Amino acid sequence: MDLTTYLRALPKAELHLHIEGTLEPELMFALAERNQVALPWHSVEETRAAYAFADLQSFLDLYYAGAAALIHAQDFFDLAMAYFARAHADGVVHAELFFDPQTHTARGVAFASVLDGLERACSEARERYGISSRLILCFLRHLSEEDGFATLEQALPHLARIHGVGLDSSEQGHPPSKFARLFARCRELGLHCVAHAGEEGPPAYIVEALDVLKVERIDHGVRAAEDPALLARLAREQVPLTVCPLSNVKLRVFPTLQQHNLKALLDAGLKVTINSDDPAYFGGYVLENYRQTAEALQLSRAELQRLARNSLEAAFVGDAERALWLARLEALAD
Ligand code: ADE
Ligand code: ZN
Repeated sequence: MDLTTYLRALPKAELHLHIEGTLEPELMFALAERNQVALPWHSVEETRAAYAFADLQSFLDLYYAGAAALIHAQDFFDLAMAYFARAHADGVVHAELFFDPQTHTARGVAFASVLDGLERACSEARERYGISSRLILCFLRHLSEEDGFATLEQALPHLARIHGVGLDSSEQGHPPSKFARLFARCRELGLHCVAHAGEEGPPAYIVEALDVLKVERIDHGVRAAEDPALLARLAREQVPLTVCPLSNVKLRVFPTLQQHNLKALLDAGLKVTINSDDPAYFGGYVLENYRQTAEALQLSRAELQRLARNSLEAAFVGDAERALWLARLEALAD
């Protein structure tokens, strides 16, 4: 079996995916026209040409600008259905979608419009593709904890449809401890907790995410490699890391994919997974992340299977569903 066929056949979960980051320029322009919204670019080509990033912030500036095209529940539905079609084609059996409500409510979009559109897409994806999914509300860390609490308040009537919370946006200068009280409240509400940490920020932010926010997974986490004690802890506690290789290269966390530390983290015994982050901006969906990483780092089939197994083990799903996927994974021959 060739590499791409093998990778597609591997049952896998995508655990680090910002749904706003799946907005391809074609859909962005179609929605902007439908909604009579002005974009900072004149064409699809000009938009794609602008996707050259110096760091996380330079990406976020464009990402928030593009999200302005999203207004109605139908827009969020169309966005998520386009993602699910691609995820299904990539062999994704389960996807956990991050969404950034503050990006939308700040523009006057109702929280319920965002959630209604996304949730309808999740149900449709289950029926059409058999994909299971979860919604994870992310708080923007460049905003205040108070703003986060106001967002949580808006989410309360919808909690049955939200499985967890995360923390994203500009990392440097916005440590996890800024959101200690907010995450404590989310834990009391029974929500799963994850946080971006150690993407651009220091290893100490990973420690804070674990000890202060008490998260169950770390999004990115690649800078853990700079702290041997932390590395040993992540391996011992088997904390899942949702690593996004193409994102890390596009945002210059690593100069090239060949220099990415994913294999080193795997070799150190960490529970690493592969994900696409914002695939419309970073040049590839999850299969492409697996494929390019496998080639750049010379990953074996056993290592690729381990990465997929880690994703299934780290998913926020019931054990019965997980067991079915794991059985399919183990039955897959090389
Ligand atoms: N929002 C969308 N993608 C992100 C990333 N990679 N890091 C932080 N915030 C984000
Ligand atoms: Zn991310």
